[in-house]
Amino acid sequence: MKELTVTVVGNEEIAPGIFEIDFQLPEDIFFRCGQFVNLSVGDGLHLLRRPFAVLFYDKNTRTAGVCYQVKGEGTKLLSQRKEGDKLTCVIPLGNGFILKEEEKRVALIGGGVGVFPLLSVLGEYKDSDKHFRSYMGFRSAAYVNTFGMYDKRSDALFVATDDGSFGKKGTSVSLFFEDFEQAKPDVIFACGPTPMLRALKAGLSERGIGVPCYVSLEERMGCGIGACLVCVCHKTGGEANVRVCKDGPVFEIGEVEI
Ligand SMILES: Cc1cc2nc3c(=O)[nH]c(=O)nc-3n(C[C@H](O)[C@H](O)[C@H](O)COP(=O)(O)OP(=O)(O)OC[C@H]3O[C@@H](n4cnc5c(N)ncnc54)[C@H](O)[C@@H]3O)c2cc1C
Ligand code: FES
Repeated sequence: MKELTVTVVGNEEIAPGIFEIDFQLPEDIFFRCGQFVNLSVGDGLHLLRRPFAVLFYDKNTRTAGVCYQVKGEGTKLLSQRKEGDKLTCVIPLGNGFILKEEEKRVALIGGGVGVFPLLSVLGEYKDSDKHFRSYMGFRSAAYVNTFGMYDKRSDALFVATDDGSFGKKGTSVSLFFEDFEQAKPDVIFACGPTPMLRALKAGLSERGIGVPCYVSLEERMGCGIGACLVCVCHKTGGEANVRVCKDGPVFEIGEVEI
């Protein structure tokens, strides 16, 4: 984990209100898929950095990318950053996704901005013997993004929208359960809004599916490094808490209350 000043090399709107910002690091880092960056938004007033999943890290050019949805003031300011601007960040943060040697068939289930952390998994394992079936869910056709990147790297890709205006009507979770017998995954990685993760947890439990399932959580954060406790969530069945920034953001789905 390093605090670095990075240089913006691109910041483009890829879907309505969704941007990809790429930035060059002054030095190499060790990055694992599913880790995140705490990125400044580029003005002197907003001192609190914002957490974003790292989409990719290219060792050769020392360039990293993040996709973000404009939500409030911070992300709006970030969307105004231009090539050559300097930002500060702490990178890499969190535990990330880990694939075991024997886990060959991988299901990736993403909803909304939850599709971003999973893309780094496809990037990291692009030349491996792993097979990916990806399930993406969006509000409507207008919000569909990163489709091309998923399509290129997944062995099979399924897309759903809430209103059926792109792909199938439904959610990434409903697509996953429809395809489950065909997919027979060894492991499941998921990220998305809380209702989506709850539906996944309930669906796995109702069907008695015991496949290991890891979810990346998105809590509001302060420091991003485990010190302020803004991001705590409850461990299942007990009093204990975990810090999403330091102990996560990736947890086994049964480990935390969603
Ligand atoms: C580990 C992690 C990875 C993330 N990765 C991505 C990503 O790849 N792409 C992306 O678009 N967003 C991601 N987020 C969410 C992103 O950090 C927030 O959307 C952003 O900080 C909002 O900043 P803001 O100043 O624009 O909004 P604010 O003005 O602070 O808030 C605007 C709205 O966003 C909500 N919000 C604020 N912070 C978060 C948060 N941490 N998680 C969820 N909702 C939040 C608020 O409740 C409010 O409704 C991630 C969050 C975490 C914790
Ligand atoms: S954000 Fe400060 S402890 Fe997690």
